[in-house]
Amino acid sequence: MQIKNIAVAGAGTMGNGIAHVFALFGYKVFLIDQNETILKNAVKVIEQNLDRQVKKETITAVMKESALANISVYLNLKHINSEIDLFLEAVSENKQTKTALLQQAKEIIGEKGIFASNTSSISITELSTASFPERFIGMHFMNPAPVMRLVELIRGYSTSDSTYETIKELALSIQKEPVEVYDYPGFIANRILMPMINEAIFALFEGVAKKEEIDTVMKLGMNHPMGPLALADYIGLDICLSIIEVMYNGFKDPKYRPCPLLVKMVNAGKLGRKSGEGFYKY
Ligand code: CAA
Repeated sequence: MQIKNIAVAGAGTMGNGIAHVFALFGYKVFLIDQNETILKNAVKVIEQNLDRQVKKETITAVMKESALANISVYLNLKHINSEIDLFLEAVSENKQTKTALLQQAKEIIGEKGIFASNTSSISITELSTASFPERFIGMHFMNPAPVMRLVELIRGYSTSDSTYETIKELALSIQKEPVEVYDYPGFIANRILMPMINEAIFALFEGVAKKEEIDTVMKLGMNHPMGPLALADYIGLDICLSIIEVMYNGFKDPKYRPCPLLVKMVNAGKLGRKSGEGFYKY
């Protein structure tokens, strides 16, 4: 199956980054968000990030313009139809919201298209039952999507080989490195990343070192671009907590117990960059 038209539902950080990448590689993107402010902001952010690439000479001004021309924005699903080859949802991490949206898209898109979720933690198998399980797959981009090369392709219990192969080809066509993963809590990226972040928070909580020292160890000692506490602020502490809780509940294993400091900071509204303060101030 050849993918040409892609609907991306949710125009937040991940949704606009994903729309940016598909549009840059020539796909027609229908970017949908019911929040007009988020939608308008998404177009601005995409333009700024394309400008950044033009300045760095990784793309030309003509490529930027054609990417922007490939994106159309809508406030609801009424404007999409059965011409959509891929419906990819990147709305907030709430199972009910995602399920309701997928059920709506199923009615519109019908028998042909593939359905995907950019979820970082919700079971692909569970979400797949809201559309067509054989034609459903996890397509998990990393933030910032225009920069990070990895895409986790998560196979739900019923994901067909042809769905997997089509989405793998799509990922390669946008110069990403797809990695095949089966559907277990945290998949691979977060199963390894979140315990590291949680452990860094425990080290801070127990007074082993100050925040800057913990981040410096991982930056200079392991060549990570950001320390784990700065990365937690970048991802959002609420997101980190919800992912580690999915693993804690999913595996019933105390090794995924969230650090009490993480819980306390989320309760205090210190969510990282997006709230202006997390482990650091912004
Ligand atoms: N769009 C396009 N380009 C962007 C961009 C964006 N949103 N953000 C940064 N860039 C580009 C910059 O133009 C720059 O390009 P060059 O290399 O060509 O110069 C490059 O990315 C680096 O950016 P900066 O110089 O501004 O800043 P930096 O060197 O500090 O890098 C960073 C920023 C790319 C975010 C880097 O710090 C990094 O890789 N951090 C780790 C990010 C990470 O781990 N992400 C995964 C999070 S986990 C996740 O997403 C999964 C989940 O489910 C939670």
